[in-house]
Amino acid sequence: MPGTCVIGLQWGDEAKGKIVDLLTEQHDVVVRYAGGANAGHTVVTGGQTYKLSLIPSGILNPGVKSVITGGVVLNPPSILGEIDGLVQRGVQCSDNLMISDRAHVIFPWHLEEDRLNEARTSKNGEAIGTTQRGIGPCYRDKVGRTNAIRLGDLYRANLADRIRKVAADKNALFPLLAGDVPFTALDAEKIVAEYQGYAARLKPFVADTTEYLLNALENNKRLLFEGAQGALLDVDHGTFPYVTSSNSSGVGISSGSGVPGRYLNKVIGIVKAYGTRVGGGPFPTEQDNDLGQHLRDRGNEYGTVTRRPRRCGWFDAVAARYTARLSGVDLLSVMLLDVLSELPEIKICTAYEINGKRVTNFPSQVDDLREAKPVYETVPGWQTEITGLTRWQDLPKNAIAYLRRIGEVVGRPVQIASVGPDRAQTIFHSDCEFAPRSIRTTILA
Ligand code: IMP
Repeated sequence: MPGTCVIGLQWGDEAKGKIVDLLTEQHDVVVRYAGGANAGHTVVTGGQTYKLSLIPSGILNPGVKSVITGGVVLNPPSILGEIDGLVQRGVQCSDNLMISDRAHVIFPWHLEEDRLNEARTSKNGEAIGTTQRGIGPCYRDKVGRTNAIRLGDLYRANLADRIRKVAADKNALFPLLAGDVPFTALDAEKIVAEYQGYAARLKPFVADTTEYLLNALENNKRLLFEGAQGALLDVDHGTFPYVTSSNSSGVGISSGSGVPGRYLNKVIGIVKAYGTRVGGGPFPTEQDNDLGQHLRDRGNEYGTVTRRPRRCGWFDAVAARYTARLSGVDLLSVMLLDVLSELPEIKICTAYEINGKRVTNFPSQVDDLREAKPVYETVPGWQTEITGLTRWQDLPKNAIAYLRRIGEVVGRPVQIASVGPDRAQTIFHSDCEFAPRSIRTTILA
């Protein structure tokens, strides 16, 4: 039975949530396997906009189970805020949301560490530009083990003592970390009371999700894995150190969820029709100019979580080819194609020149990537609105040619194109096995 994976192939914000939402009706379980409240998904359906961060987009479909696995780092007030927001809008979570007892919990000390680290490193231009959601510090404690607290630990009798001990360690650490950046010492008793309250509210959702997913597979349930961030932010395979602290590429699915790789049999790679990046780190095709501003305005390229303006540039096929191979991608979905509609010509980066040498492989070292000069191929634009189109064959000839060319240079076929935020503004190629039944009839018509 299928385990379908939706993976962002760039630096995040590829609009994966929209594709997950569309594919949900063909699956029984939607699984979030990495990252935390650093991610933001926007799903527009029936004229309603939902902004989700930790909860999988599958929650909008009542017949589907949404599972947050142990690879995720969980900020209790964030997820409770999301649950409350959904319930207020009539979306039920009580029966269809499950959170792993193995998930590591974000505490106020993680947020403070993230903030202090960024404040200190930004003084010498070395900041990663994190979302300051405590992601890196929480994963660091997970790997370090001694000061880590998992969701299941919130229900143990020694919770208060553990919080007091970690808070004392962190209070001793902060002055060293802060340098001359002001910080607030932790009040352990306040944290104990807060987290006991969160634990009580989260209890109905907490479960052994690994066991649940393995059983689901044995019962032929169809699983949909929802990636967070993009593969270029993968801690092992991305543009280190300008990455997030989890395996955000396809390689993280098994470790994050406990589902063996042999069940992951279809991978959809999500790319924007151009490139964006938030935070620091090299971005070879960046356009820090009027074109970049045009893409930002037209694509509303401002972070869902932090509202930071995103850096914008041309489509980088060297990077996407690398991440498509890394994540075992079968087909591509090109998002925000309509953002390019006004441009007379469009560039695709097909190679880099690094220190006078032309390369088509993605460099493993960030210093080499910093030196990379993009080699562009220029294709004509279509200069007509496409937001109202629903059939592949109705797309302008130059738009089809652009999608085909992206598929050629990345090495995977483009079978889905998104021309606007709504579910309905999604065009499936007739070869695409994922076209929803309603849309498939349109294709065949
Ligand atoms: P962190 O995940 O908050 O530690 O941030 C590390 C890097 O990943 C920063 O450059 C962030 O801007 C970036 N990042 C983290 N989450 C996202 C996301 O969902 N979209 C885009 N960039 C992200």
